Amino acid sequence: MTGATGQLGSALLNHLKGSDYKIKMTSRRKPEGTEDFEWVYSDLLSGEGLDEAVKDVDVIIHAATSPMKNSRLIEVLGLERFLGKLQHIKHFIYPSIVGIEEIPFKYYKLKYEAEELLKNSSIPFTIVRATQFHGFVESLLLSKPLFKRYVIPGSMKFQSVDVDDFATYLIDFIHKGPQGRTDDFGGPEIMLLREMPEQKIKINNETNKVLSIPLAGKLYKSFVDGKNTNCNQKTGRITFEQYLRNKKA
Ligand SMILES: NC(=O)c1ccc[n+]([C@@H]2O[C@H](COP(=O)([O-])OP(=O)(O)OC[C@H]3O[C@@H](n4cnc5c(N)ncnc54)[C@H](OP(=O)(O)O)[C@@H]3O)[C@@H](O)[C@H]2O)c1
Repeated sequence: MTGATGQLGSALLNHLKGSDYKIKMTSRRKPEGTEDFEWVYSDLLSGEGLDEAVKDVDVIIHAATSPMKNSRLIEVLGLERFLGKLQHIKHFIYPSIVGIEEIPFKYYKLKYEAEELLKNSSIPFTIVRATQFHGFVESLLLSKPLFKRYVIPGSMKFQSVDVDDFATYLIDFIHKGPQGRTDDFGGPEIMLLREMPEQKIKINNETNKVLSIPLAGKLYKSFVDGKNTNCNQKTGRITFEQYLRNKKA
């Protein structure tokens, strides 16, 4: 499992604790509280540690990513180099994102390129596209009220999903075997972004208010149009409200 210290990586490790699988995990920082698993330092940018990481491995869940820094070098070129070392791998599981070909965002274009690389390789694979994680939406858009106001483009739509739901879904593919590109994995409900801080305010008894502002541009419009959602795949169980309540508890 790559990306052991990330949001998805941590959730995967939590769910894999106590399983019969023999697990090797990789990242550059060493994850805490994971003494049950073997950790190998590896860097997708320099290639350091990758040979050791994939030695004697049958299945890879590739949860490493870098959306902000060196994103092409890691998501596409790093993956290409990585795939070159995986001729012995029986199954490569790649988490991707819903709507990437319809949303004009650089990182999403790279995810699409990475999917194509994988499809054109000889390695048996499963690609599962998920919607944005609850924690990701919260930390990106709802973490810092400005003068006691969540200032947000409230008409954007999200169908956020709990990372634990997604992690357990991905783990099932280990024994299902390679499935190619699967159905999308979406959260249980599609919400307007402005509804999300309203829930946060209610649950945490905050005195903050919500100030919704429109934005210009194609990227904003694609989220207003819900291109990042899939109303036919409300597969996740934990709602955003439940996620907030669990976090508070
Ligand atoms: N976040 C979302 O809302 C969302 C939604 C759907 C799908 N996904 C997909 O799920 C996957 C995991 O996303 P995430 O949100 O869990 O990511 P994340 O929290 O940003 O974690 C990224 C992981 O990649 C590792 N990493 C970064 N640079 C690296 C490098 N140069 N070499 C090796 N490892 C490196 C990081 O560990 P170190 O820094 O310790 O190396 C970290 O463990 C991605 O493919 C993402 O596209 C995410």
